[in-house]
Amino acid sequence: MLMDFEKHRADRKILSVAFKPEPMRHYADSLNEGIKSRIGKWSGKTFKFYPAIKELTLDLAATSFLGIPWGPEADKVNKAFVDMVQASIGVVRVPLPFTAMGRGAKGRAFLVDYFGKMVPERREGSGEDMFSQICRTRDDDGNYMSVEAIVDHMNFLMMAAHDTITSSITTLVWELARHPEWQDRLREEMLAVAPAGEGVGHNSLGQLEMTEWAFKEALRLVPPVPSFPRRALKDFDYGGYRIPAGASVGVSPAFTHMMEEHWPEPEKFDPMRFSPEVARERHKYAWVPFGGGAHMCLGLHFAYMQAKIFFHHVVTTHRIVVAPGYEPEWQVLPIPRPKDGLTVTFEPL
Ligand code: HEM
Repeated sequence: MLMDFEKHRADRKILSVAFKPEPMRHYADSLNEGIKSRIGKWSGKTFKFYPAIKELTLDLAATSFLGIPWGPEADKVNKAFVDMVQASIGVVRVPLPFTAMGRGAKGRAFLVDYFGKMVPERREGSGEDMFSQICRTRDDDGNYMSVEAIVDHMNFLMMAAHDTITSSITTLVWELARHPEWQDRLREEMLAVAPAGEGVGHNSLGQLEMTEWAFKEALRLVPPVPSFPRRALKDFDYGGYRIPAGASVGVSPAFTHMMEEHWPEPEKFDPMRFSPEVARERHKYAWVPFGGGAHMCLGLHFAYMQAKIFFHHVVTTHRIVVAPGYEPEWQVLPIPRPKDGLTVTFEPL
């Protein structure tokens, strides 16, 4: 995300290989398997949803992204990775012992060593996971990406994917718990696509239209990346202001998604806003949870896929319930989440 122009274009092209239909089919299979087994453990329980989905998303990334099975090895990678992300917002910015930055630097050293050693064998192998795909891809001159670049991209992919999916799925779980009528509507759509508890394969994802609208509405209400920085390349005028080349410019989905001129009753959960008839008239950049332009999120289809598979497993077999009058408080930064973890019950149908 911090690269620009030619280098960015070349690396983005290599990374895109991991999001083509064939690998996506493979990830869908492993997501279905992992989600099904975990939801069995949540069935009939009252639990904190946010930490549970965070753990599941990390575990799913271990298989789809890295091609390593769940277990102690994946746990170690996940811990190193979580420490590294925490360090990015640590107050102390030098890697002293017992600080978030210290743990983060240790985590990063572990991951660099861990991924780095695996690159040669992944190049020779036929793994379908993201890491293997990126290791095997060559640029326009026939060269592999360097080990250092692969390590950095894998770290970024894990970071880009896991907190964002965790946050957006949590938002939709909360909205569905508050709007049981939407659980019924989605369940009907889902059961027409695949039997209860079976999940959906990659080829059927397009049929879950309303589920996609509901997920988009969750991303509108609580965009996982509430704002992101840009820099003006040349002078331009915007909203009556002159912006000089080189100026920092903040783009804020959280603000844009609440603009009444684009979103009537912006606080209301209404997935029908995304039905083609309503969406057709809307400004192209009124909905920007995945950014836009040259850096637009590469993993948005992966995010839709994980969300659709997850909700198919949950909603076709359970009712998502919260206690009457329950109103969790949300923390917005660095990534939106319910402060108390969001207490929900998954009642078997
Ligand atoms: C709901 C989930 C997600 C949200 C809301 C989200 C949001 C974003 C945003 C706002 C950006 C910056 C876009 C810009 O600067 O215009 C971004 C970039 C990116 N995202 Fe996502 N993301 C999500 C999931 C994922 C997943 C699952 C992956 C990978 C599997 C991923 C990979 C990336 C990558 C590689 C970039 C950098 C693209 C570039 O700079 O060319 N994201 N994402």
